[in-house]
Amino acid sequence: MPVLDELLYRNKQWAANRLRQDPDFFSRLSAQQTPDYLWIGCSDSRVPATEIVGLDPGEMFVHRNIGNVVIHTDFNCLSVMQFAIDVLRVKHIIVCGHYGCGAIRAAMSQLSYGFVDNWLRHIKEIIVKYEAELVPLDEDARLRRLCELNVIEQVKNLGKSKAVQRAWDAGHPLQLHGWIYGIADGIIHDLDIHLHNREQIPSIFHMLGKSDA
Ligand code: CO
Repeated sequence: MPVLDELLYRNKQWAANRLRQDPDFFSRLSAQQTPDYLWIGCSDSRVPATEIVGLDPGEMFVHRNIGNVVIHTDFNCLSVMQFAIDVLRVKHIIVCGHYGCGAIRAAMSQLSYGFVDNWLRHIKEIIVKYEAELVPLDEDARLRRLCELNVIEQVKNLGKSKAVQRAWDAGHPLQLHGWIYGIADGIIHDLDIHLHNREQIPSIFHMLGKSDA
């Protein structure tokens, strides 16, 4: 059986199993999605967002990219955020990184990986910002810490965005969180960064104008 036929076969099995457990599952989902969460995670195949938090289809809106970064010129991520906040009215945005992230490891090196270097340079900026903390660590500890710092910086980037600040200004109870997942043990750790109002963001990033961007 060709490889892709195998995947389509598994899909039919999955759908049949779902219906056996819950006959209304697909008809209910087809009506609408009402997720409370937006997940921004790494594209890494070992970090399947919905599965590792035990949620079902329909319960979490998901955006994944290399290194789980929030870049203010990335129309894809910005559009996902705006739609999730304004239309789906999610209550929580979770940035979830993971230990052993290949993007972080690549950003720590001086090797060129091609076009993706343009993406990874945003992580290199974080290395420079936290150089004093990172330099004394051995290589393993440095990689682990940078995986954590990258999440923390991306949560702050969310807070600097117009979409998030507009939601806060409108009284929408939107909270931003930073997590990190251990591929070796399957456990998520809360990095204890929780943003829920403008005052937690440096004032230079407060967006006071009327632009929709
Ligand atoms: Co990764």
